[in-house]
Amino acid sequence: TGMFTYDPGFTSTASCSSSITYIDGEKGILLYRGYPIEQLAEHCTFLEVCYLLLNGELPNTDEMQQFEGTITMHTMVHDQLTNFFKGFRRDAHPMAIMVAVVGALSAFYHDALDIKSKRDRDISAIRLIAKVPTIVAMCHKYSTGLPFMYPQNKLSYVENFMRMMLGTPCDDFEPNPVLVKALDRILILHADHEQNASTSTVRLAGSSGANPYACITAGIACLWGAAHGGANEAVLNMLEEIGDVSNIDKYINKAKDKNDPFRLMGFGHRVYKNYDPRAKLMRETCHEVLTELGLHDDKIFKLALELERIALEDEYFIEKKLYPNVDYYSGIVLHALGIPSNMFTAMFAMGRTVGWIANWDEMIADPDQKIGRPRQLYTGITRRDVPQHIKKG
Ligand code: CMC
Repeated sequence: TGMFTYDPGFTSTASCSSSITYIDGEKGILLYRGYPIEQLAEHCTFLEVCYLLLNGELPNTDEMQQFEGTITMHTMVHDQLTNFFKGFRRDAHPMAIMVAVVGALSAFYHDALDIKSKRDRDISAIRLIAKVPTIVAMCHKYSTGLPFMYPQNKLSYVENFMRMMLGTPCDDFEPNPVLVKALDRILILHADHEQNASTSTVRLAGSSGANPYACITAGIACLWGAAHGGANEAVLNMLEEIGDVSNIDKYINKAKDKNDPFRLMGFGHRVYKNYDPRAKLMRETCHEVLTELGLHDDKIFKLALELERIALEDEYFIEKKLYPNVDYYSGIVLHALGIPSNMFTAMFAMGRTVGWIANWDEMIADPDQKIGRPRQLYTGITRRDVPQHIKKG
């Protein structure tokens, strides 16, 4: 048509300007607010990274204490929210429940929904970061028929989540520091990734002025798909299906076969044409967790390492620059932590909530912000008249 640029999948369109996250896909570099992901993963906690993403700078001790205190104050959900869970079958996918329950939050917080007010936006950010873990844990408890666990304010963000997720009212849940660190790192690595599909969805939803809970819900819905956040669950299912090292070649050949829709889950990325820096860190964490739990002979982990080795030596994967992405190892770590695979994508959502909110806030604060409204190339039938026999009277 000459009027618009046609760019399906937005492979070459920048939809916004942003000062939050930087990716160099050729070199495998990821920076949050300028800080390399490797340094943040080593020296910071997830909540410090949340503060950084939202405010642009790492917090000092006082700022951190205040931020953590505020988050802690908001970890409980309105008791009526439990009714939303009860409308679901026990076997409902947790992401289906997440979409419903996080969406429902917008009906509970009318006190701070003025998106033009920075104060209101900050309160919404805090509420979402504080309440999403509680909701994720409730999804799991609901599906297993166990009682919901209330948050406990003396625990750290991750300890509290682990207790709500894995503890029961009959036991004193003792968080293992190595596992707490591992989960904290998973959240850091998932916290933001510039204009990925779900973050773009959040921005597009927010561009109309919709409330933040509704926008984050749109992001959760988008994340669910297997090409995006659903991949971590798909990786574990795939490894279980492959079952044994002796079957790897068969599956590698399936992945290479143009006529077979099968893809190696946890491999490939739209932006990274090099080893995903998050996957490298996740792989380290995976070793630490398996050592701590004495699972180094774990069949699934051995299979994953061998599959990675074989794929990285294969011409098809080399030529197409397909490397393991963050989801490849995160599934195995979550599995080792005792988190069932149907919860993996909800765990991803928990980490990404801050990135969605930071991007939404940045967009709303931009004075030049406009409603997102892509155009199309129309390929349908050109103008025609309704036929005579259909015309009435
Ligand atoms: N296994 C086998 N072949 C693959 C794979 C794979 N995992 N990924 C891409 N290819 C091939 C693909 O068939 C295509 O070949 P050809 O050029 O001959 O048609 C080529 O590589 C380029 O793939 P594409 O689908 O055009 O690339 P994309 O940028 O649109 O897709 C992707 C990126 C992540 C959706 C894709 O690599 C994929 O489906 N990977 C598996 C799912 C996955 O792990 N997703 C997680 C992404 S990272 C974190 C997240 O967002 O959750």
